[in-house]
Amino acid sequence: MNLSITLGPEVLAAATAIDPSLRGDIRSDHAGEMGAVMIYRGVLAGSRDPSVRSFALAHLATEQRHLTIVEALLPREQRSLLLPLWRIAGWLTGFLPAIVSARAVFATIEAVETFVDRHYEDQIRKLPASGAAGSLRGVLLTCQADEVHHRDEARALRGAPCGLALRLWTSLVAAGSAAAVVAAKRL
Ligand SMILES: [Fe+2]
Ligand SMILES: [Fe+2]
Repeated sequence: MNLSITLGPEVLAAATAIDPSLRGDIRSDHAGEMGAVMIYRGVLAGSRDPSVRSFALAHLATEQRHLTIVEALLPREQRSLLLPLWRIAGWLTGFLPAIVSARAVFATIEAVETFVDRHYEDQIRKLPASGAAGSLRGVLLTCQADEVHHRDEARALRGAPCGLALRLWTSLVAAGSAAAVVAAKRL
C-alpha cells in the first residue's frame, strides 16, 4: 500500500514529529482507535436495529480511517503489547449495550467519545502549531473533530436522560477508557 497516496502528505509529515517523548501518547491513540473499530464491530454483532446498524456502519468507516492514520504514525514494534486486550474490551463495549437497546448503544458511544474528545484535546494542547509537530497537531485535530461529531450525533439519538443503570454503565465505560489510556501509554 502506498501510504503517501492513502494518507496524504500531512500524515507523513506528522509521523516525523513522533519523537520518544510522544510515543506513549500516540500508542494510546492507536490503542483507542483499534478499540473504537472493535466497539462498532461489537455493536454490529449484537444489534439488528436498522438505525443502530446504519449509525455503526458510518462510524466504523471513520474509525477505520483513524486507525489507518495512527498505524502510519506508529511502527508496529512500538504499538501496545496489550492490543489483544483492547480489541476484546472494545468489542464487549459495543456488543453488551447492543443486546440491550438502541439507547444503550447511543449512550455508550456518547460516553466513549466525550472521553476521546478530552483525550485528544490534552495532546493537542501540548503541540506547537508549526513544523512537523504542527502537522501532527493538524492530524489529531481532524480525528478530534470526527469524534466530537460522533459524540453529538450519539447524544442527539440517545434522547431523554439516562436512567440509573445506564448511568452506572457509562461511568464504567468512561473509567475503563481512562484506565486503558494510562496502561497503553506504558505498555
Ligand atoms: Fe476515532
Ligand atoms: Fe469516534
